[in-house]
Amino acid sequence: MDIQSENKAMIERINQLRKERNAVILAHNYQLGEVQEVAGFNGDSLELSIKANNTDADVIVFCGVKFMAETAHILSPEKTVLLPVMEAGCPMADMADAEGIRKMKEEHPGALVITYVNSTAEAKAESDICVTSANALGIVQNLPEDQEIIFVPDTNLGTYVQEQTKRKMYLWPGYCPTHLRITPEMVKRRKEEYPGALVLIHPESPLSALRLADEVLSTGGMCGFAKKSDAKQMIVATEMGLIHRLQKENPEKQFIHISEQATCPFMKLIRLPDIIYALENMEHVISMPEDIRVKAKIPIERMLEESKKIQRD
Ligand code: 13P
Ligand code: SF4
Repeated sequence: MDIQSENKAMIERINQLRKERNAVILAHNYQLGEVQEVAGFNGDSLELSIKANNTDADVIVFCGVKFMAETAHILSPEKTVLLPVMEAGCPMADMADAEGIRKMKEEHPGALVITYVNSTAEAKAESDICVTSANALGIVQNLPEDQEIIFVPDTNLGTYVQEQTKRKMYLWPGYCPTHLRITPEMVKRRKEEYPGALVLIHPESPLSALRLADEVLSTGGMCGFAKKSDAKQMIVATEMGLIHRLQKENPEKQFIHISEQATCPFMKLIRLPDIIYALENMEHVISMPEDIRVKAKIPIERMLEESKKIQRD
C-alpha cells in the first residue's frame, strides 16, 4: 500500500471508531497537518476548552499536550478524555509546582494568583483564576488598577501583560522552550526578506521580539486576524504547526514561518496510528485526584466566565 492509501485506510478506521465510541477529536493548532485534518475541531487552548466543556460526545480524544487534556477532564469528568500519547507533555507546565505557588502566596498575601492554562492541575488548584494567551490581557485589564498579581508560570506572557496593563505583578520564572528561541534577530531577518509582510507573534515569545511585531496574538487570534486582514504576506512567529491551518484557510495569502527552530517536539508526537490505538483501546485515560480536580475547576470556570464578559465588552 502506498502512503496515500495507507492514510486513507487510517482515516476510514478513525471515522468508524469515532462513531462507535461517540467520540470527538479535538486538535490544537500546533498538531501535525494529518491530525488537524482528521479532527472534528481545531483551535487554541481557550477554544478547545470551551469545546470540551460543551460537547455531547462521550469520549474526547485530545490531540494536544497533557495540560489541555487535563483541562477537558477537569471541566467534564463524566466524559472519558483520552490523550493518545502520554509523553505529550508541556515543559512550561511542569515548571511551576503547588508548593512554590503557596510560598509566593505567603510572601504576597494580597495578590491574586493568575495561572496560565499551560500548568498542572495542582498549580491550577492553588490559583484564583486561569488565563490563556487569548484572554490574559483582557482579564487583567478588567481588574482594579491597584490589584497585585502573582502570575504563573510564563514569565514572557507575564512581562507582556505587565507592560500593557501596568499592574504590579510577581512573575514565576517559567518559559516555553519553543517560543524562547524566537529572537529579535530572527524577526529582523524575516522582515528584511519580506519587507511588505505583517509580523504576527505569540505572547510566549520574549518581549524583545514582541516589540518588533505588528500583532501579538494567540494561535486562534492569528487565524482570525489572517482571515480579516488585507495583508497578502504574514510572518508567523509561533510554533510551525499553525502554518498548516493558516495556509489552508487562506490559500491566496502567503505565510512565512519565523524559523524552523520554533518547533515544539511534544506537539508532534501524536500521529494517526496513535489516534486509532487510543480509540480501540480507550487509552490513555486522563484522571487525577478528585479533590485536585474540584479545586482546579474553580479558576478555569472563572476564566470562561470572564472571557464571555470580554467578548461582550
Ligand atoms: P494558544 O492558546 O495560543 O493556542 O497557545 C497555547 C500554547 O502555547 C500551546 O502550547
Ligand atoms: Fe508547551 Fe511551548 Fe510546546 Fe506550547 S509550544 S506545548 S507552551 S512547550
